[in-house]
Amino acid sequence: MAALGAELAEVLTPGMVVFLNGDLGAGKTTLARAVLHALGYQGKVKSPTYTLVEIYVVSNLYLYHFDFYRFNDPQEWDEAGFREYFNDASVCLVEWPEKAGDLLPPADLEIALRVMDSGRQAEISARTGKGRECLSRIASGGGIA
Ligand SMILES: Nc1ncnc2c1ncn2[C@@H]1O[C@H](COP(=O)(O)OP(=O)(O)OP(=O)(O)O)[C@@H](O)[C@H]1O
Ligand SMILES: [Mg+2]
Repeated sequence: MAALGAELAEVLTPGMVVFLNGDLGAGKTTLARAVLHALGYQGKVKSPTYTLVEIYVVSNLYLYHFDFYRFNDPQEWDEAGFREYFNDASVCLVEWPEKAGDLLPPADLEIALRVMDSGRQAEISARTGKGRECLSRIASGGGIA
């Protein structure tokens, strides 16, 4: 997770949206924490499960870490007023995006995490041109198998 987080931290640019998919305990928050630490954030990275969003300003980036698990209805996303957080200047990492429904801005990258016998498997999919560029930079970086 630390290695993948570091790779992601290197390629994320303002305006990007990353969905973190996977079951409860799959490692979504752990990965977000790794990204933040790789960007240089030294404080505690809490799960946004109760607050819905945790806000960070680090390495000249506004980074918003969301967790929509507690939404019962996608309309709650609209009412929460988070739309403005998804803008050209910010990076949004989103746990449980499916709970926010179709109104959520689309992801540039989707990362699916799966619990394995030992550790985790991550499957990264690019959904936009920007996402594809990031993915090819990760792939050519060589750090992650
Ligand atoms: N690569 C890994 N190997 C072993 N354990 C891990 C790994 N990644 C995360 N974990 C552990 O799995 C547990 C759950 O991780 P985490 O809170 O990141 O999951 P989550 O996907 O955010 O879950 P939730 O949907 O509840 O928010 C933590 O105890 C974490 O330390
Ligand atoms: Mg989590």
